[in-house]
Amino acid sequence: MDTVRKDNEYIANTYSRFPLTLSRGRGSLLYDENGNEYIDLGTGIAVNGFGVADPVWAGAVMTQANTLPHVSNLYYSAPCAELAELLCQKTGMKKVFFSNSGAEANECAIKAARKYAENKGLTGAKIITLKNSFHGRTLATLAATGQDTFHKDYLPMPEGFVCVDPDEPEALESAVAEGNIAAIMLEVVQGEGGVVPLKPEFAAKAAALAAENDVLLICDEVQIGNGRSGALYGYMNYGLKPDIVTTAKGLGGGLPIGATLLGEKVAGVFTPGSHGSTFGGNPVCCAGAISIIKRIDEPLLEGVRERSAFIISALDGAKGVKSVSGMGLMLGVETERPASDVIADCMAEGVLVIKAKNKVRLLPALNIPFDLLERAIAILKEVCAK
Ligand SMILES: Cc1ncc(COP(=O)(O)O)c(C=O)c1O
Repeated sequence: MDTVRKDNEYIANTYSRFPLTLSRGRGSLLYDENGNEYIDLGTGIAVNGFGVADPVWAGAVMTQANTLPHVSNLYYSAPCAELAELLCQKTGMKKVFFSNSGAEANECAIKAARKYAENKGLTGAKIITLKNSFHGRTLATLAATGQDTFHKDYLPMPEGFVCVDPDEPEALESAVAEGNIAAIMLEVVQGEGGVVPLKPEFAAKAAALAAENDVLLICDEVQIGNGRSGALYGYMNYGLKPDIVTTAKGLGGGLPIGATLLGEKVAGVFTPGSHGSTFGGNPVCCAGAISIIKRIDEPLLEGVRERSAFIISALDGAKGVKSVSGMGLMLGVETERPASDVIADCMAEGVLVIKAKNKVRLLPALNIPFDLLERAIAILKEVCAK
């Protein structure tokens, strides 16, 4: 109770929290301050990909914390270089800029795209983003976010963004044809937008237009990335070859990290002093991330796809379930009852799920034990059927 009182008194009022204070966890189980147990289908919004306090990740973090927890970017440090090498080897991208969050990874992508355009002689080139997208809470990433509700009260938005509807490929074509476009930026599955996968034809069209017009393709993999889609990165399911990939959340496994992966075209765009971050590439965060990225291999991804198929087949057509959308272990369940009521009832029954627009969002750990997943989905089904 003391925590709730202090939080309400002293924390800026930006979050509507559930009435639950979590105090510890292990794998896919979380415990509140009274020792009640919950099956975690939210993973801190797609962060704890290997579960809470995953021992491999915690070991890597503790070792690094006891060795060299922070070093400035004025010096080299091994974890940061090793993580960048791993990310490039696994994706074919050429360079990495490390930051501390998804929004910062996207800020870097926006800056890289603008600088690439500027280097070609295009001043003030715009970035096309999609309606219903979500790219972060900084001002530039808010401007990139195609949902007006996030803009209101914070006007004026930074300039340089054009928003098109992903259901209207002709609108994308016209926006590119207008010229002075630096990049097209998209999430292959819109997470905050309600767990909506992009239509493959639209994604292919965006990729083709980008390639034909020397416009950069930026894939925001902050939520769907790092194994959650059933592939290492979500764009891989679509056969895309992005010029810039942004990632965060699950990469850190529980510590803050953002990464902007730069492909061939933009590998040389930044020069010393052109971008930076005090904590970017922090050795502890990078050591943890190495332990995560090294384990996202084919057997793990196969397990993600299996778990996904199980959830979809259990919920599809179930009483009180209207539809299931998404990909891999990022799923949105449209329910007949209001999503908030389903979420509250699930919590009362010991299952933690979250919301995305009007849907119940499921983001379990990539390695959630099958027995826990089965238990949690059985509870969700009962609650939906009420
Ligand atoms: C697709 C996407 N991009 C960017 C962000 C922003 O990430 P962060 O909250 O780490 O800044 C989010 C967060 O939900 C996201 O889902």
